[in-house]
Amino acid sequence: MFAKEIVCPRCQKKFSLGKVLNLCSCGSPLLVRYDLRKIKRAVKKSDVKSRPATLWRYREFLPLRAEKNRVSLGEGFTPLIDAKRLASEFHIKKVWIKDEAQNPTGSFKDRGLSVAISMAKELGIKKVAIPSAGNAGGSLSAYAARAGMEAYVFMPQDTPRANQTEAARYGANLTLVDGLVNDCGRLIAERKSAEGWFDLSTLKEPYRVEGKKTMGLEIAEQLGWKLPDVIIYPTGGGTGLIGMWKGFSELEEIGWIGSKRPRMVSVQADGCAPIVHAYSEGRDRAEPWINARTIASGLRVPQAVGDFLMLQVIRESKGTALSVSDPEMVAEIDRAGRLEGLFFCPEGGAGVAALRRLAQRGWVKASERVLIFNTASGLKYIDALAG
Ligand SMILES: Cc1ncc(COP(=O)(O)O)c(C=O)c1O
Ligand SMILES: [Zn+2]
Repeated sequence: MFAKEIVCPRCQKKFSLGKVLNLCSCGSPLLVRYDLRKIKRAVKKSDVKSRPATLWRYREFLPLRAEKNRVSLGEGFTPLIDAKRLASEFHIKKVWIKDEAQNPTGSFKDRGLSVAISMAKELGIKKVAIPSAGNAGGSLSAYAARAGMEAYVFMPQDTPRANQTEAARYGANLTLVDGLVNDCGRLIAERKSAEGWFDLSTLKEPYRVEGKKTMGLEIAEQLGWKLPDVIIYPTGGGTGLIGMWKGFSELEEIGWIGSKRPRMVSVQADGCAPIVHAYSEGRDRAEPWINARTIASGLRVPQAVGDFLMLQVIRESKGTALSVSDPEMVAEIDRAGRLEGLFFCPEGGAGVAALRRLAQRGWVKASERVLIFNTASGLKYIDALAG
């Protein structure tokens, strides 16, 4: 066991492991802290390399105590694809695509939910609830089914059909809500104590972000422990951005990578861009976005509890934040599909559109190595993309 304690990044309050936790009393998300010296003594890069190709190859960097509680469907260690034709279109030395569509339920949400459901199992939780903009609901339903837990999923009623269908087929109790993901979260908050649900909302428990962190660990390993110059990430609740950044500092502390970090770019949709707005105004917190609208359902997050952590990552890394339009996302889905043979989701398309703009502006230079994500399969959005 290498996790040491759970700490609030805002007020520094500490919590012991082995307790069921949601937010800190100050309202901040909580983060797991590890005994990194112990990890350094216990494991070498070559040990990790010889393990199975799932995110559990980094088990020392994860909070689960007993292997018997691991709830896994083979998530993580997704391919890093050398996108030569996109790179040449953008006149950039290197573009890699981390293809998260190749996770068990077709999105990167599987990382966070495999770890969070494993922890829930270890803590004896039997009923879990999640508000979801789309993919997280499907993913939670699959992992809860595998763990033998009851799942309660709340989604906006116009969430892609694939997400609704998969949640129901995995046996979750699905509630469609006339509202957005924050409204779904509110309904869970109101009912959870009476119903005995554990609330798995983004960053409202400390373990999903640990699963997302493994994207950062994998990128480092897959690139020979040398990070790219720029990482572009489609940002909703922000666990990916926050998790990868946490992973990089853990790797540096144990000496597996140096101090050089990628510039972290948050891309959002023109129709819902609270982080971009807060970043450009120099604020530490984001204002709730009114009338959020975009086909990138994963980016339709008007308010995020980890907003201040995302803004810290963007600034500390000397990154940036920008938004793109829905038609740009769709055009890039076509472009990436034709050039690289990958069916991007709209959120992934947003990353390609952001790279196109940043390359045109010279913010990304020709000599740089850039990593983008396809966070889910385009097949999940077939109702919006067909025709
Ligand atoms: C496909 C896809 N991409 C990106 C995001 C945003 O991810 P995060 O919550 O890590 O910011 C989501 C979230 O729902 C998503 O489903
Ligand atoms: Zn606190």
